[in-house]
Parts: sequence; structure tokens; C-alpha cells
Amino acid sequence: MTDGTDASPLSFYDEVGGHETFVRLVDAFYRGVADDEVLRPMYPEQDLTGAKHRLEMFLEQYWGGPTTYGQERGHPRLRMRHAPFHVNPEARDRWLLHMRAAVDELGLPPLHEATLWDYLLRAAHAMVNTFEPTGIGPSAGGRAASSLPLTPQQPD
Ligand code: HEM
Repeated sequence: MTDGTDASPLSFYDEVGGHETFVRLVDAFYRGVADDEVLRPMYPEQDLTGAKHRLEMFLEQYWGGPTTYGQERGHPRLRMRHAPFHVNPEARDRWLLHMRAAVDELGLPPLHEATLWDYLLRAAHAMVNTFEPTGIGPSAGGRAASSLPLTPQQPD
């Protein structure tokens, strides 16, 4: 896209600055996660590099960038992939807190920022799989989500 005569529209991925922007977003987000006493223990790997790579590839693909995520991981099935983790409202809110700080660091134009944030907010709400408080153990989330709930389940 140089002179405006190309008929293909610019993807959101391109509009916000492409790969570099997603690297900055995910780096800033994981800086927050690294110091979070609820979220950090959920991440199975000692080093967050793999998790960072997966989230970055996913977001790039979602917004119209390279499809590396699909090549490496197949269908996202994000709800299913989060089932082993205890994603309760507290975890969601902490996730969103670090993501909000990361989005702010990008300094995007307001419309782009709103588009990105709206998606992240909805996706985070959809990822909640338990209303049990934190501290039950790493595998409780998956089981609690599929067994009889002790508290009323709310729709995503
Ligand atoms: C709501 C709170 C959330 C929590 C506590 C959470 C936690 C986690 C954890 C512990 C992992 C495993 C890390 C790894 O890949 O090694 C993970 C993976 C992942 N998460 Fe989340 N997550 C949340 C929300 C989200 C949202 C909203 C998105 C998308 C917008 C997302 C996208 C991903 C992706 C793409 C992966 C890697 C999936 C794969 O294995 O290919 N997560 N998440």
C-alpha cells in the first residue's frame, strides 16, 4: 500500500503498525504477568518466552497479520486451551489490568485503541471457566467447569 490505488484494504494489523506493535503489546503484558502472584503460577513454563510467542502469534493472526499461529498450533480453541487453568473473575481482572497497561503503552489513535480494547475485554470475559476462588489448585478450573457448578453459572 503506497499510492492508494491498490484495491486491497489495509488490515487492522497493518494499520496499528504490524509485527512491531504486537511485540510491544505482548512484551508489556508479560512484564505485568511476571510480577503477578495469581497469574504467574498458572503459566506452566519456567520461562514465559513460549507463552509470549503463542499470544503474539494468535493476536497477529486474529487481526489479519501472518497466520503463523494456525500453522504452529492449529485451530485456536481458546476456551478449551484455557480449561486446565483456574480462570475465575479475579484472574480475568488481573489479566485485563496488565493488558490495559500494555495497550496504554502503545499510544494508539483512539479508534484503534477502542477496537483493540473492546475485543480484549470481551475475549477475557469469555475465558472465565470457574467462579471458585483462587487457591484451589491448578487443575480445579478444568474439572469445575465440566462438573456440577456450586455457584450459578453466568453466560459469557
Ligand atoms: C482471562 C484471563 C486469562 C488467563 C488467566 C489466561 C491464562 C493463560 C495461560 C496460563 C496460558 C498458558 C500459557 C502458555 O501458552 O504456555 C494461556 C494461553 C493462551 N492464552 Fe490465555 N489467559 C486469559 C485470557 C486470554 C485471552 C482473553 C486471550 C485472547 C485474546 C488469550 C489467549 C491465549 C493464547 C493464544 C494462548 C496460547 C494457546 C495455545 O496453546 O496455543 N488468553 N492463557
